[in-house]
Order: sequence, then structure tokens, then C-alpha cells
Amino acid sequence: MYRNLIALGIAAVVAIGAASSSPVRQYKNLKVLPPDIPSARLQRIMVDEFNDGLGVGCGFCHAEEKGSHKLDYTSDAKPEKSIAREMMRMTLKINKKFFQVHRPGIGDSLMIVNCSSCHHGQPRPDIGAE
Ligand code: HEC
Ligand code: HEC
Repeated sequence: MYRNLIALGIAAVVAIGAASSSPVRQYKNLKVLPPDIPSARLQRIMVDEFNDGLGVGCGFCHAEEKGSHKLDYTSDAKPEKSIAREMMRMTLKINKKFFQVHRPGIGDSLMIVNCSSCHHGQPRPDIGAE
């Protein structure tokens, strides 16, 4: 009897351990954002930081699937997506190095400099050189 209860207890602990040590990885191609980022957070970054910050739609960075107008978010076919990754790395570095944000994260409210600081709702900031 007791032996069975103990066995059950151990099984439960193992099950909980397995569940918490394998975070949901629903995205396949994240190189800057944490791979186990919750989907609500990723959505917020894409909409508030990227679409609104640059004044563009999702298709500015994300390529269409072959033979359809559906966007393939995993694909790296559009150069704008790679530029955006470099911009993310630069933005993290600016915050860490020059503004002493210890653990900078894209979309965090603690960030001093974000995409809109330079872009102001434009895909190409007005750099005054014409
Ligand atoms: C300014 C460029 C840009 C815009 C605009 C943008 N994205 Fe993204 N998106 C990225 C980049 C860059 C990544 C990869 C980030 C990384 O590597 O950590 C990404 C990743 C994603 C992913 C994860 C794909 C995977 O499987 O790894 C999804 C889903 C996504 N974006 C959805 C959207 C949606 C929906 C919109 C519009 C509301 C949008 N994005 C707008 C640049 C953009
Ligand atoms: C310190 C200022 C600064 C910050 C912060 C910044 N950018 Fe940029 N970004 C620029 C400048 C300047 C250009 C234009 C470069 C050029 O014209 O060659 C640019 C260009 C881009 C482009 C290419 C646009 C095009 O039409 O080719 C993308 C995409 C982009 N930025 C995404 C982002 C994203 C996403 C963020 C936030 C993670 C971000 N940027 C943060 C200054 C910044």
C-alpha cells in the first residue's frame, strides 16, 4: 500500500519535472528573441514594435508562401527580415552598453532606446542626407 503511494508520488514529481523542463517551442526560426517566447509576447513585439514602430505591415519583412499570398513567417527570404535582426541586435547593444539596461529585451518597457526612437513610424528614418 505505502509502497504504491510512494511510487505514485515519484511518478508525479517526474511528470511535473518533465513538463516544466521542456518549454513550448512553437517558433522554428528565432535567432534573437528567446526560442520559448510566449506567443502573446511575440505578437505584441511584431505589432507594437515592428509594424507600428516602422509604419509597415507584416509583409514588409515576411515573405509570401510559394503560390499564395499567405505569409511564411519562418522563411528568411526577405532581406528586410535579416536587416531587422541586425537592428534588434544593435538596439539591445545600445541599451546595454550606453544606458546600463542590464538584461535588455526587445519589447521590454525598461528599454530606453527602441525601434521607434529612430524610426518614428517610418521604414527608413529621415537621416537628412538627400
Ligand atoms: C520589421 C520587420 C518585421 C515585421 C514588420 C514583422 N516581423 Fe515577424 N519577425 C521579424 C524577425 C526579424 C523575426 C525573427 C526574430 C528572431 O530571429 O529572433 C520575426 C519572427 C516572426 C515569427 C516567428 C516565426 C518562426 O517560426 O520563427 C512570427 C510568427 C512573426 N514574426 C509574425 C509576424 C506578424 C504576424 C507580423 C505582423 C503583425 C510581423 N511578424 C511583422 C521581423 C518582422
Ligand atoms: C539608432 C537608430 C535605429 C534604431 C534604434 C533602429 N533602427 Fe532600423 N534603421 C535605422 C536607419 C538609420 C536605417 C536606414 C539605413 C539606410 O538607409 O541605409 C534603418 C533601417 C532599417 C530597416 C531597413 C528598411 C529598408 O527600407 O530597407 C529595417 C527593416 C529596420 N531598420 C528595422 C529596425 C527594427 C525592427 C528596429 C528595432 C528592433 C530598428 N530598426 C531600430 C536606424 C535605427
